[in-house]
Amino acid sequence: MEEGKDPVAVTRTGQTRALPQRLLKLLVLFLGLCSTFSVVSIYMIRYFGVNSVVTSVRPTLLPCNNEALSLDQWIKPPMNLMHKMSDEELFWRASFVPRVKKYPFQRVPKIAFMFLTKGPLPLAPLWERFFKGHEGRYSIYVHSLPSFEADFPSSSVFYKRQIPSQVSEWGKMSMVDAERRLLANALLDISNEWFVLLSESCIPLYNFSMVHNYITRSKYSFMGAFDDPGPYGRGRYNDNMLPEVNITDWRKGSQWFEINRKLALYIVEDTKFYPKFSEFCKPACYVDEHYFPTMLTIQAANLLANRSITWVDWSRGGAHPATFGGSDITEVLFKKIFEGHNCLYNDKPSSICYLFARKFSPSALEALFLLAPKFLGF
Ligand SMILES: *[C@@H]1O[C@H](CO)[C@@H](O)[C@H](O)[C@H]1NC(C)=O
Ligand SMILES: *[C@@H]1O[C@H](CO)[C@@H](O)[C@H](O)[C@H]1NC(C)=O
Ligand SMILES: *[C@@H]1O[C@H](CO)[C@@H](O)[C@H](O)[C@H]1NC(C)=O
Repeated sequence: MEEGKDPVAVTRTGQTRALPQRLLKLLVLFLGLCSTFSVVSIYMIRYFGVNSVVTSVRPTLLPCNNEALSLDQWIKPPMNLMHKMSDEELFWRASFVPRVKKYPFQRVPKIAFMFLTKGPLPLAPLWERFFKGHEGRYSIYVHSLPSFEADFPSSSVFYKRQIPSQVSEWGKMSMVDAERRLLANALLDISNEWFVLLSESCIPLYNFSMVHNYITRSKYSFMGAFDDPGPYGRGRYNDNMLPEVNITDWRKGSQWFEINRKLALYIVEDTKFYPKFSEFCKPACYVDEHYFPTMLTIQAANLLANRSITWVDWSRGGAHPATFGGSDITEVLFKKIFEGHNCLYNDKPSSICYLFARKFSPSALEALFLLAPKFLGF
């Protein structure tokens, strides 16, 4: 600051001019320190979450106050889903498994609903209603394209449920990577016991209690897996996958699955099958239709129901299933979705085979929202 331009100094006599100026300098220095400190704290809270900032700062400020480690620190889910781990680091961390099988605390097992999306979730209002009142029995994870910025209000179940994402393309290994990333992030919460993969065009077909009971009481995980002898099944197998993958193990199935924690761990920890699929299953081998069904059949065939619980309409033929818009949401459609199915549930015949359905376009929301109480029971 130039002496002659000091506004305080101009109004003062020569004798008192030194003191206010020193005070002023101190004040500026103090303000500078304050703002630096707050910027640093905001940065740290944003990137590490309140908890880790508080705990990591405390020991250095108060070295004598050595806070004892409590069980809470191991069982509390991460407060902030955003992290700076690479996939390699994340998968390693997610593969931790307790060897003592009895939990020394009250564990309420949850269903992780994992949404694999391009951008927005146009059917979010329907899902909000589905989850309402069931807090503590589910958790939500969203993987969207990295360029997409979610702006859910803090009252939404989707608020801050986005995980670090990367670009993923249909039919490519990057799609499988995104699914593994969702699983790994969900595994970090020790209370998640079941994992459901959904897309932005999926809807639930029953109320939460019904979906919860169906999944939690099932002896098997709902991974579609069948042996298709034709060109779109075994025809996509490549001999180079031997000896890890034999053609007799080759399976095909829908990408939309529900699996338990044990199977989720198989997927996240896999380094044996992954390189084979990554190298030898490229379009026209669509890896998201073969990798999980095949590797889980090799590792845990007895745990698979071999069917998907997500309904989709292929009846129109072609490469893509039907998409339903506003005018399609009629009683006729619900009849088609709910009636005429037969499957095994816990080894017994059942007519309830699907808990979710796709594909619904944003224009279907209004009609779905209106008719959900009547046809979907929520
Ligand atoms: C959920 O739906 C089932 C039938 O689908 C019904 O029996 C049950 O009462 C419903 N529960 C609630 C809380 O609405
Ligand atoms: C694949 O498995 C079948 C039976 O499961 C076996 O007969 C065959 O020898 C195996 N093929 C190779 C190349 O290992
Ligand atoms: C699913 O298929 C595998 C063979 O791929 C079989 O071992 C298993 O028993 C089947 N699961 C059920 C529930 O039938």
